[in-house]
Amino acid sequence: MVGGGTTEDVCRAKQIPGTFLDLNRGFDMMTMDIPERAENIFWHPPYGGMIIYSDKMYKAQDIINQYGFDPRVNDLSRAKDWDDFVKKMNYCMLKQFSALEKGGRMFVLMGDWKQKGKLYSMLCDIAKPGTLEQIIIKMEHNCVSDSRSYSNMNFVPISHEYVMVVRKDAAMIIPVAMTRKTEMDVRDCVSGTWRDLVAAILEEAHKPLALKEIYQRVDGHKKCASNQHWREKIRQTLQKNTCFRHVAEGVWAVA
Ligand SMILES: C[S@@+](CC[C@H](N)C(=O)[O-])C[C@H]1O[C@@H](n2cnc3c(N)ncnc32)[C@H](O)[C@@H]1O
Repeated sequence: MVGGGTTEDVCRAKQIPGTFLDLNRGFDMMTMDIPERAENIFWHPPYGGMIIYSDKMYKAQDIINQYGFDPRVNDLSRAKDWDDFVKKMNYCMLKQFSALEKGGRMFVLMGDWKQKGKLYSMLCDIAKPGTLEQIIIKMEHNCVSDSRSYSNMNFVPISHEYVMVVRKDAAMIIPVAMTRKTEMDVRDCVSGTWRDLVAAILEEAHKPLALKEIYQRVDGHKKCASNQHWREKIRQTLQKNTCFRHVAEGVWAVA
């Protein structure tokens, strides 16, 4: 995914032979075979949908005319959402890692994307096959966002990217670390305390609750299975923690 060809320029300057591929050169990583078994791969994928490439940086029609396919279909920057992007990114990651010779390395340049207070981190979500050898922090200078002024600077701007280096020590059986998204219900989380469980119930309710209502919300969950006197435990928790407020007879709220 060499885009404008920076990688190619650097390789030329350093006399490193290479093969330079991109959608804009008629190569679709999602559907086409990587043309060789590589010693090293430097990969600079899109940053999710932060910057759109096909039909923005180059004309889709030119690729259609020249190579006979529409680059917008499998352009990673046009994935329908973050989860779809991560799925495609990881397909490409494992495909390229498979194309490495044993002993080879993959260098992946990537960044994080913050939108509406949520961080979309490529580094966190990317599949990490083989041996993780290094995470290099690359400072970002002269970004478009540097010149932007914000009315509210109540955040830490992102001013770095990462280069992740993974090495292929085995040819056939390869360890892969992947992020799995799941959910936990605090009522089934035995490592949480009773204070935190009761506080969560009251916070979720957004109003004072009678003891009976608190009991109903936890009954049957794993936290109760670990203590047969759980009702007494809840009453004791409410009385001894300053984060709770006694509103009326048997009625409690968060302080
Ligand atoms: C971050 S840019 C690379 C920038 C490049 N390092 C440069 O110096 O311009 C990502 C590139 O990924 C390419 N790309 C996106 N999806 C692709 C796919 N399925 N197959 C091949 N290239 C793809 C885009 O065309 C874009 O040029």
